[in-house]
Formats: sequence, structure tokens, C-alpha cells
Amino acid sequence: MRAVVLVGGFGTRLRPLTYSTPKPMLPVGHRPMIARLVDRLGRGGVTEVVLALGFKPEPFVEAFPDGRCGDVALTYAVEPEPLDTGGAIRFAAEFAGIDETFVVANGDVMTDLDVAGLVSAHRDFGAEATIHLIAVDDPSSFGVVDMADDGAVQAFVEKPAPGTEPSNLINAGTYVFEPSVLDRIPAGRPTSIERDTFPGIATDGGMFGVATDDYWIDAGRPEFYRAANLDMLSGIRQHDRCDPIAPTASVDAQATIRNSLVGAGASVAAGATIVDSVILPGAQLAADASVIESLVMGSIGQGAEVTGSVIGADGVVTANSTVDGTSLPAPDA
Ligand code: GTP
Repeated sequence: MRAVVLVGGFGTRLRPLTYSTPKPMLPVGHRPMIARLVDRLGRGGVTEVVLALGFKPEPFVEAFPDGRCGDVALTYAVEPEPLDTGGAIRFAAEFAGIDETFVVANGDVMTDLDVAGLVSAHRDFGAEATIHLIAVDDPSSFGVVDMADDGAVQAFVEKPAPGTEPSNLINAGTYVFEPSVLDRIPAGRPTSIERDTFPGIATDGGMFGVATDDYWIDAGRPEFYRAANLDMLSGIRQHDRCDPIAPTASVDAQATIRNSLVGAGASVAAGATIVDSVILPGAQLAADASVIESLVMGSIGQGAEVTGSVIGADGVVTANSTVDGTSLPAPDA
């Protein structure tokens, strides 16, 4: 079984972190999100992943120079211009010559979904497209489905106005497609699989959904990206967990670290306090710095206090200053 994984987005909501690292290459539990995703697809029977690349393809190729991630072969399909989700799926599938049932996954979804189960449900339905669904409290910022008892998706609505959602079941970002889905996507121009393609398949009766209560998080927003990392410590993930401190991090014995991760090569000086935070590779915390509920890639000066903030690779918090609810450097509008 082959899979197309979408990894070419701009990751706007995770700026400034994504100025230096594309979103799917950001670590979750000290490994790139994409590596954890590919592992999971491999456990579900996927043997080749086609990475649908656009924005910043180089870090992916550098991270997997021999074209493999574990037992899974990788193919790199680099778009000439951003084609949005639908255009990217068509481009990547054609690039790789996919002509049979295949899996599609968003590169920023962390879940324990059993992909083999989704594929088998797809075959049982005789579906053209089968999508993984998750129930959430507020579905309005997602794609929402109206699903019949037999699993048929009767309507697919992307980001419905609050109060108009047909259900609380949302598109969880993993799909199984027949190749005929590709014919529904216009070639060579940006088009959204969620807005432009899914509603038509649903209307034609070819779309089915599988709702599960697996662990699931869309790590594309800072608060969820932080949660995806902290969840690696709590033991709630089925296959994925990690130690708080990466082996190559340098953490002074006089630092206090609570419910936090310190990534490869990061340094934390004496007296620093880190709580409910993710210290990313390359970050530097000087003596007595305090970081609470934040994501840090840059440098935090001596005695500085950082709360609820996102500090990118070029972000510098000066000594003894206080930063609260801020992104540094400030993302472009
Ligand atoms: P935001 O800019 O924060 O919305 O993030 P995004 O566009 O990177 O991600 P979004 O969650 O909107 O898209 C879902 C998935 O599709 C992500 O894994 C993206 O990397 C990917 N994606 C979005 N647009 C494109 C595109 O034009 N080309 C490719 N190849 N992938 C894309």
C-alpha cells in the first residue's frame, strides 16, 4: 500500500517556529512529526510514502538522505508552486504513478489511528473515499460531516459557521482513496481537497467515514503542538513516548524541569525553571531564566521570564525581561 503525505504547507499558524523548520519537520518527542507519522503508516501496512513537498523541501531530503524512514521507502514529489491540498495530492500521486487504492495523510496530525483498519473499512464500504473522523466539542473550525448510520457521508462542510455544524464529527486528516478521486481534482492548479473535492464525492454517494476515539491532535497550532509534545511524556500514546531530555541536550543539575521537553543540543543553565514547555533543538536558556507554558527555539537571557509565548530560532529575550503571550520574532501578518 502506498500513501501520499501532505507536507508542503507554509505552517503559518506555527510561525515563527516554521520560519526555520517546516512544520512536519518540527519535533514531537524529539523526532520529526513526519517520522512518527511514517512509522505509524508503516505499522498499518504502508510500504512507500510519497512526500508531497512544496515550501522548504530541502530539510526533508536531508533528514532522510537514503530515501527511507525505518522500513518505509520515501519518494519526494516537489511541486513547482503551492497547489493546495487537492492539487498537491494529484501532483504527488501522478509523480509516483499511483494507480490503485492509496492512503492520504496530513503531515501535522498526530494520532494512534490504525491505518490498516481504515483501509479494511474502505474496502468493506466499497467507497471511493473513506475519511477518518473524530468527535470534538467545537467542530466549527474543521471540516464537518453529516454521516448516516451505515457510515455514508451525506454532506461534507468545511469550517461551517458556529451553530450550523451538521454534527460534531470532524475530518481527522487521514483518508483512503480510489484512484478515481484524482480525476475529480483539476490538474496543475491550486485546489482544496476539503472544499473542492469532498463535497462532490459525498453528494455522489462515494464518501464514507470511520469515527474512532483514538488519540488525535492536529499539531498545527502552538497550543496543540505543545500538547502533542507533552502527551509524549504522559503515557497516553499507544506507541510513542520519550524521555523529557534529549541525550544531546545540556541541562545543568541546578535547573528545574517539570512536565517539559528539552530537545537535542539545547542548553539550560543553572537555576533555570521550565514548566509545561517545549525547549526545541538549539535553544539556549541562561541562568535563572524561567519558561512557563511556552515553545522556545531561540535564546532566553539570564533571569528573563517567558510565559505562554513562542520564541523562534531568531528570537532573543533579553536578560531580566518579561515576555507574556508573545511571539518572537513577531510573525509577518
Ligand atoms: P497553516 O499555514 O498554519 O494553515 O498550515 P499549513 O497550510 O502548512 O497546513 P494545513 O493544516 O492548512 O494543511 C494540511 C496539510 O496539508 C499540512 O500537512 C500541510 O503541510 C499540507 N499542505 C497545505 N498546503 C499545501 C500545498 O500547497 N502543497 C503541499 N504539498 N502540501 C500542503
